[in-house]
Amino acid sequence: MLRMFTIVLHLVCVILCLQLQQGVSGHQCLEHPPNLNATSGAGTVIEVGGLKAYVTGPSNSELAIILASDIYGFEAPNLRKIADKVASNAGFNVVVPDFFYGDPYNPNNTQRNMTDWLRDHGTDKGFEDAKRVIAALKKKGVSGIGAAGFCWGGKVVAELSKGYYTEAAVLLHPSRVTLDDIKGTASLTQFTVEKTLTFKNIDILKVFCNRQSDLRQKELIKTPIAILAAQFDNGTAPELMKQFKEILSTNKIDNFVKIFPGVSHGWTVRYKDDNVTAVKSANEAHQDMLDWFITTYVQKT
Ligand SMILES: *[C@@H]1O[C@H](CO)[C@@H](O)[C@H](O)[C@H]1NC(C)=O
Ligand SMILES: *[C@@H]1O[C@H](CO)[C@@H](O)[C@H](O)[C@H]1NC(C)=O
Ligand SMILES: *[C@@H]1O[C@H](CO)[C@@H](O)[C@H](O)[C@H]1NC(C)=O
Ligand SMILES: *[C@@H]1O[C@H](CO)[C@@H](O)[C@H](O)[C@H]1NC(C)=O
Ligand SMILES: *[C@@H]1O[C@H](CO)[C@@H](O)[C@H](O)[C@H]1NC(C)=O
Repeated sequence: MLRMFTIVLHLVCVILCLQLQQGVSGHQCLEHPPNLNATSGAGTVIEVGGLKAYVTGPSNSELAIILASDIYGFEAPNLRKIADKVASNAGFNVVVPDFFYGDPYNPNNTQRNMTDWLRDHGTDKGFEDAKRVIAALKKKGVSGIGAAGFCWGGKVVAELSKGYYTEAAVLLHPSRVTLDDIKGTASLTQFTVEKTLTFKNIDILKVFCNRQSDLRQKELIKTPIAILAAQFDNGTAPELMKQFKEILSTNKIDNFVKIFPGVSHGWTVRYKDDNVTAVKSANEAHQDMLDWFITTYVQKT
């Protein structure tokens, strides 16, 4: 009887978790898909840590920046332009890995929706791959690494920050970064205690969900971090960003949180070139990102 109950609860949970994940990576992540171009940009595509990556800027630089893409991947021309800009302005070696192994989200593929695509391309896997890229960069002599993540990539960069894999982080309209990522959650043992205490309570669902979705969430953001968010963003709401800032400041984590007025989720990379307002706001965000890397970590390394 009890067993049945647990199994049913588990099922409910899996469904709830899936829906939650979908919620945070909802429609806004799909807006304005780019026209991918495998040859765009001033850099080249090489292999780094077993992944294909677009690299630009001086390859002998001791300072590297990793850009973690949104769901549209590393062939997005705007993303490569941003990489070129970061490289030429500060002499960073910029690396944009192909976290999706040639399989970015394709909005035209009606056979495979976002949920299905995310199952194949979870941010957990992205995190593991990013660690391999970092190891390869360190092996070739890079001493300091910053990482910036857009949308999907924001979560990957948050994970890197938790583990001190990078010296500085920038999240641009991140998806799926939660309060728990910023403040850390109870340890596993505490989960277990909570579980027994509230066994027949509805709260148990939450506990199960946490266990299911991300055990690493007990870690919290540790490196200096800038968060650039849009006024209109259902996944990364301005109110939530203000909470992030409070907690980061309480934890004495060097931070910069800015809400850009009049723009929506995805604006820093999926702007249209012919929209002057959009381009201006995106450029301002790129400059903030660059400034953050220069002041927080170049000067300290
Ligand atoms: C975002 O949320 C608002 C209401 O809060 C809703 O009107 C809007 O349709 C949502 N947009 C997307 C793209 O989900
Ligand atoms: C892709 O980028 C290359 C290099 O910038 C450019 O020559 C080419 O026209 C682009 N292709 C498309 C379809 O935009
Ligand atoms: C999706 O379809 C549109 C319209 O036909 C096309 O312009 C675009 O290149 C397609 N995108 C992909 C990723 O195939
Ligand atoms: C996505 O596709 C799967 C099957 O491939 C389906 O079970 C699920 O309901 C779909 N989700 C949405 C939101 O369409
Ligand atoms: C230009 O971008 C701004 C800011 O993202 C947006 O509010 C506006 O609707 C866009 N204009 C057009 C014509 O798409």
